[in-house]
Amino acid sequence: YAEQAAPNGLAEAFIIGREFVGDDRVALVLGDNIFYGAGLSELATRAAAVEQGATVFAYPVEDPERYGVATFDADGRVTSIEEKPEKPQSQWAVTGLYFYDNRVLDIAANLQPSPRGELEITDVNKVYLALGELFVSKLGRGHAWLDTGTHDSLQDAGAFVRTIEQRQGLKVMCPEEIALEQGWLTADQVLARADQLGKTSYATYLRRRAQELAGA
Ligand code: G1P
Repeated sequence: YAEQAAPNGLAEAFIIGREFVGDDRVALVLGDNIFYGAGLSELATRAAAVEQGATVFAYPVEDPERYGVATFDADGRVTSIEEKPEKPQSQWAVTGLYFYDNRVLDIAANLQPSPRGELEITDVNKVYLALGELFVSKLGRGHAWLDTGTHDSLQDAGAFVRTIEQRQGLKVMCPEEIALEQGWLTADQVLARADQLGKTSYATYLRRRAQELAGA
């Protein structure tokens, strides 16, 4: 990993991570954002396959003034995007999951800091909007987008995830399970990982899923 030494804004990821990105397309996801819902992996897979332009996701919220806010025309095409507007023109917050083509590296490198002193991801998105290459995919009912940036919202997200996990006996975002399902890890590798985790409930879960998926 690479460290961002000072909170200079999200877009700095593409300056710090320039070498890591190389000649590829790239996705950025914020560590304090949680996404949950059926069909999300398909949406992300589709966004990752787009060769030119930027894809972001919008989600209706009660408090859009805390976020980047998108507006749309009658055909559902994005018409504007504003960072933390005092008077939001819509309820549609831009979530912290972004897919870009390789031009994002140069776009980020040429940004000026905003009035709050940050290299804004919204300013990156505005460049793509001006090029006519910003795609905004709406998430809505049936999807949860949770932000865990405050103590309250972290509690809310924890309660939500706990409720789903305990009801279904399935974990939300277990990297080993996902890797096993995708064929990136073998069942034996997941079991070896479980052994490192001893008697924890997480290890028990990994053993159970390794067995279930091996038998599937
Ligand atoms: C950042 C972005 C904002 C986006 C939000 C999503 O806000 O600047 O556009 O809607 O993440 O969580 P920040 O965390 O910097 O307040």
